[in-house]
Amino acid sequence: MDADTFREFGKAAVDFIADYYENIRDTDVLPSVSPGYLINLLPKEMPEKPEQWQEILKDVSKLIVPGLTHWQSPNFHAYYPIASSYPSVVGEMLSAAFGVMGLSWICSPSCTELELVVMDWLAKFLKLPAHFLHSTKGPGGGIIQGSASESVLIAVMVAREQAVRRFKAAQPELSEGEIRARLVGYSSDQSNCCIEKAGILGALPLRLLPTGESRVMGGTQLAKAVKEDLAKGLIPTVCLATLGATDTCSYDDIASLATVCEEHKIWLHVDAAYAGCALALEEFAHLREGLDRVDSLNYNLHKSLAINFECSPMWLRDSLKLVQSFKVDRPYLQHKYKGEADIPVFRHWQIPLGRRFRALKVWLTFRTYGADGLREYVRHRIRLAERFEKYVLADTRLEMVAKRSMGLVCFRVRGGDNLSIDLLKRITERKKIYMVPAISEGKPFIRFVVCGMEPKECDIDFAWHEIESQLSQLLSEREVTRGEESSQR
Ligand SMILES: Cc1ncc(COP(=O)(O)O)c(C=O)c1O
Repeated sequence: MDADTFREFGKAAVDFIADYYENIRDTDVLPSVSPGYLINLLPKEMPEKPEQWQEILKDVSKLIVPGLTHWQSPNFHAYYPIASSYPSVVGEMLSAAFGVMGLSWICSPSCTELELVVMDWLAKFLKLPAHFLHSTKGPGGGIIQGSASESVLIAVMVAREQAVRRFKAAQPELSEGEIRARLVGYSSDQSNCCIEKAGILGALPLRLLPTGESRVMGGTQLAKAVKEDLAKGLIPTVCLATLGATDTCSYDDIASLATVCEEHKIWLHVDAAYAGCALALEEFAHLREGLDRVDSLNYNLHKSLAINFECSPMWLRDSLKLVQSFKVDRPYLQHKYKGEADIPVFRHWQIPLGRRFRALKVWLTFRTYGADGLREYVRHRIRLAERFEKYVLADTRLEMVAKRSMGLVCFRVRGGDNLSIDLLKRITERKKIYMVPAISEGKPFIRFVVCGMEPKECDIDFAWHEIESQLSQLLSEREVTRGEESSQR
């Protein structure tokens, strides 16, 4: 393909994308295809001869789009959002076009330096402690990882290696194997599944502490677990707390956890994958309590701040610990400016060697919105969730399962667990809106999350109408069945 054809193809693709977003409300949010649909439609071998881009783009529309679940639709209310915005999509295009890989500063100075800049911008926007800023010139700083899962795994692994070092120095009579076999970590029963997985991948057994009705993990639960484990000769190593847990967006008590972690030299990591954006708002200032005492923190820009997947900033209080644990070098990775101007070597801070130029889409998006626009982006979604919450509260057939938190409303149908599940099944089969269930204290409930690229009040009203009307039908069908059963008796 030459540059002129690329211009035509690229412009047509941009038009295609804009049309897709503009018309997204006209399409069911869930696809109507069965497993294997695409495999059966596509040839088993790649084409032998070149094809025209016009034909290929037509096939994107004809074959690929029907198999999409439309995460950017405002009728998508499942999981947590995957954000997107026009400037971010353009940033992704430019990053793909430049095709650089930031192994080191020399591999693309703007890739590394822009990341330093936007990570500090974001840290200030979220009002994180100064020791997380690169410009503070301490050992702390931020990096953009691909996902919260990666950030959590890195926290587990660095905590593990630090504990091993510390114990090797303090008790040289112990073998490294003996030390590793005694490490243990903690999180809560509300934490995301990626935390349990990080424990498995990071070879560090994690205890998921029960939080009960409050859904909050705090210092009391942690201190009790640590005491039990110390009595067994185990080594408490890491605590993975959450600000905005997946099921109900509950918040752990970071300050009281920090007190226990400091006493026992436990690495404290905070997963704020979804709710981290709240830290930017004064009305959520209380969530910042204790953050000055944590070792690391992750927040997914790709969940709740207009940046498309994937883009997961992580901050470290002392990045040297990370470098000490994971640094591996080769002559081909060296360059003459190494170590100058305190520029971090980000490849030591992450799992892969190569790095994408993710900072570009962040920079484009932050400049396009401005800090004011980004705060409004978050508040708008919270207001929409409040609108939905009011509908639920006004309907006596429904009950809230937890307090609304950020853009998440958790509710269930009163009068039996099956009702919520049946309601959700019906709604999912109709494909107009998409929500997923969760379980609290053994009982199922429905999660409604404000998602989509540009959700509006009318979208919330649309969703509520769908839920309310399906609930009415479900209950009247039940009534009829019950009537028939009693007349047969
Ligand atoms: C609280 C929380 N942490 C972590 C994750 C995992 O995020 P990622 O897909 O970026 O690994 C999620 C996903 O929804 C989440 O809700």
